[in-house]
Amino acid sequence: MIVFLLGFMGAGKSHLGNQLAIETDSEYIDLDNLVVEQTGMTINQVFEKHGEDYFRELETSILHKISTELNLKEIKTDSTKKERFHFIGCGGGTPCFNNNMEWMNSHGLTVWLNPSVNILFSRLRNEKDQRPLLKELEDDQLLAFIENKLAERKKFYELSTIILNDNDVTLSKILKLVSDAQNFF
Ligand code: S3P
Repeated sequence: MIVFLLGFMGAGKSHLGNQLAIETDSEYIDLDNLVVEQTGMTINQVFEKHGEDYFRELETSILHKISTELNLKEIKTDSTKKERFHFIGCGGGTPCFNNNMEWMNSHGLTVWLNPSVNILFSRLRNEKDQRPLLKELEDDQLLAFIENKLAERKKFYELSTIILNDNDVTLSKILKLVSDAQNFF
């Protein structure tokens, strides 16, 4: 089963995705890393050279390709050898373009990691440089950016099957919910 980890930049998708993969003996795939592999550029360079629209098309095509491949692999694999999960860490904006929520909801389990704005801010103020949407912002602009962008994106994130807020964004809570959900797939 594919589990799409969604949420704002700094929500902990990569960190928790890696932990979840270790705990469940499954794989973790980071969508941004696939963009970097495919283009041979950093995310900042892709934005600078080609612009955001190009990046959004590329992340959507990679999302489609990887989830189609993984679901086909599942069908072909002997059921006794199946990996339990494929965790895909999406970019913060992935759910908000090109009907990607609809795609993800029909190809796996969507999980929105939604820690508090204060947590996002405290993480992102030290990690702006690698992120094209944040790197020009001063700290005092960052908080307002997070609040506004999150308000704009909420309607997409809210379409997730599982939503974890604030203190519920923990490895043990996600693990339990994802394992329970697997029984319904
Ligand atoms: C983006 C989030 C980034 C990356 C790109 C755009 C966004 O991923 O895809 O910089 O629009 O929120 P992370 O959420 O992993 O930082």
